[in-house]
Amino acid sequence: MAFPVTRLRRLRQKSALRDMVRETKLSPDDLVMPLFVRPGKDIKKPVESMPGIYQRSVDNAASYCRELYSRGVKAVILFGIPGRKDETGDVACHPEGIVQQAVAAIKDSAPELFVITDVCNCEYTTHGHCGTIVNGDVDNDRTLETLSGQSVSLAGAGTDMVAPSDMMDGRVGAIRKALDENGYSNLPVMAYTAKFASAFYGPFREAAESSPGFGDRKTYQMDPANRLEALREAEEDITEGADIIMVKPALSYLDIIRAFKDNFNTPLAAYNVSGEFAMVKAAAGKGWIDEKSMVAEILTSIKRAGADIIISYHTQDIIDHL
Ligand code: PBG
Repeated sequence: MAFPVTRLRRLRQKSALRDMVRETKLSPDDLVMPLFVRPGKDIKKPVESMPGIYQRSVDNAASYCRELYSRGVKAVILFGIPGRKDETGDVACHPEGIVQQAVAAIKDSAPELFVITDVCNCEYTTHGHCGTIVNGDVDNDRTLETLSGQSVSLAGAGTDMVAPSDMMDGRVGAIRKALDENGYSNLPVMAYTAKFASAFYGPFREAAESSPGFGDRKTYQMDPANRLEALREAEEDITEGADIIMVKPALSYLDIIRAFKDNFNTPLAAYNVSGEFAMVKAAAGKGWIDEKSMVAEILTSIKRAGADIIISYHTQDIIDHL
């Protein structure tokens, strides 16, 4: 049926009707709030490039998580800034490591909050790369050992899900095997499946103190130009046992999110990363945009593209409006 019988504007006349025919609705169920934890007591240290985001000591993170949960946030993902770094990121495997302590404290203060832990070495190595360096580059297979150790240790601390973000080949399989062998066969793995070597991670590296000391991450993170390779990454992760796959960043990669949704039946996450957050906050700080509506539009677009789960620093701001 064509115009004038069909008039698409009819469904747009009243707000109740617009609400009824809306195809994509954001819900608190979709959102995950990232948190940065550091050693110390009663610390809440602002991250310059991410207004409203802080490095928090374990006690502060635990009480903040209780508040988030009471406001409707159901899940957080933790990143650690350790007191001491080493060559391989071994500090991240310690039972008393910073994230292990945070998981335990958060589980005490907000037992129902779902606590995801990022698994990677870049915050824990002196050189800031995501794995063990051999001959000037990150050695894939050696890194699988530290990633597996870190995952088992986080499982022991009580995390609800591990999320490897390193982009080593075979890490999902290695982590799955290590978890299974240690009695954690029910612990899910959310893989950062298509993680691109992106300029949008800049503010995160300030927040997590994880900038590479030399070179860049292009020998392990994906080339932003590649879509077919992302599909191969997804095939690999799913075959190795990933329970959830992820695309990261989100906004410049909505086509990848849609491609994953169309090609795979595995639940899909997207990471609305630090640079995407910082751009919105910077423009809002200058009064150039309406932050609340822009954030709703951004998160809705990520969901419309196909994401079931959205990790976003905006979670703490938008949750009260959902
Ligand atoms: C660790 C990791 C990074 C992010 C999540 N996990 C940084 C990186 O790869 O350099 C980025 C998150 C963000 O920018 O918000 N490997």
